[in-house]
Amino acid sequence: MNALTPRPGILDIAAYQPGNPMAGGMAKYLNLASNESAFGPSPRAREAYKAAIAELHYSPDGGSTRLRQAIGAVHGLDPNRIVCGAGSDELLTLLARGYAGPGDEILMSEHGFAMYPITARSVGATPVMVPDKKLTTDVDGFLARVTPRTRLVFIANPNNPTGTYITAEEMARLRAGLPAGVLLVIDAAYSEYVVRNDYTAGIELVDEGDNTVMTRTFSKIYGLAALRVGWAYCPPAIADVLNRLRSPFNVGTAGQEAAIAAIEDVASVDKARAHNDVWLPWFSAEVAKLGLKPYPSVANFLLVEFPEDEKRGAKAANAFMQARGILLRPVGVYGLPRCLRITIGTEDEMRRLVAALAEFLA
Ligand SMILES: Cc1ncc(COP(=O)(O)O)c(C=O)c1O
Repeated sequence: MNALTPRPGILDIAAYQPGNPMAGGMAKYLNLASNESAFGPSPRAREAYKAAIAELHYSPDGGSTRLRQAIGAVHGLDPNRIVCGAGSDELLTLLARGYAGPGDEILMSEHGFAMYPITARSVGATPVMVPDKKLTTDVDGFLARVTPRTRLVFIANPNNPTGTYITAEEMARLRAGLPAGVLLVIDAAYSEYVVRNDYTAGIELVDEGDNTVMTRTFSKIYGLAALRVGWAYCPPAIADVLNRLRSPFNVGTAGQEAAIAAIEDVASVDKARAHNDVWLPWFSAEVAKLGLKPYPSVANFLLVEFPEDEKRGAKAANAFMQARGILLRPVGVYGLPRCLRITIGTEDEMRRLVAALAEFLA
């Protein structure tokens, strides 16, 4: 009898390595490893989460109706074109399941988000890596790698782990150059942090055609990573596909309620963005003063390159920080072994980190 084996390609997947390996016991660490919010959720979201306890014995609203309405109201979007998911990760996977399969190719940047190759392989498709230019998504590189087998393009904008972005104009040029039958997925997980005139999260590109989707998350600026809530803004036919594929109750009640309160608390989001806008450049300047190399970032994290020598390198720095209870993110799996990715935390946290980095390098 033949032994039980998974589908071809599944064992080629290198499982995702989370930055929070000790989930449940995170409070005792200074966790700057996973690009989460410096402040945590808005007080209104905390209250909404607590209030949801009265409903725990009921199944959630499978269609996340009120959450989609709240998102629609804040962003001026038709709620019927929004699909919510268990984190944006779920939506990325559903998009791949809906539009790609064995023999198809999915384009992604060389230093793109680690979930994209996992997602591609999970549906039997081939991930095709496009080299970056100066650690930034290269539109011409993407266009040059399109083949008749290309079905989908994943681009995080801003990108994780590099922190770099491409302009609205560049994204539109990419869309215009892709064949109509290729789905462009703009993963805008960090868009709320970006303060640049030439950037957009991609809503207008979704509106302009029937082959572009934008995904967003409540895990970053809204501080709700533990609840797993994301959303996609889609052309109607793509929303229909996602609604057919998603599990019926994919977002829990507490997540929906907390997310509604979070997105309606615009002042909290503004405060988080303003904080990042001060402490990202501050941290970048401090890192440079220490003789390390910060890459330009528009998100809530910074990619920092360490010297090549073993004693002062990224691996030693990570071990040194971990011994002090500070969690940073090694990015060797992203092809950046000399770098660490560091989340922007509170003022106290950033000062503590810079002091520890200075101690490490001394
Ligand atoms: C670029 C990017 N996309 C998507 C996600 C997934 O976020 P979620 O928590 O919504 O699944 C992350 C999380 O790190 C990310 O960095």
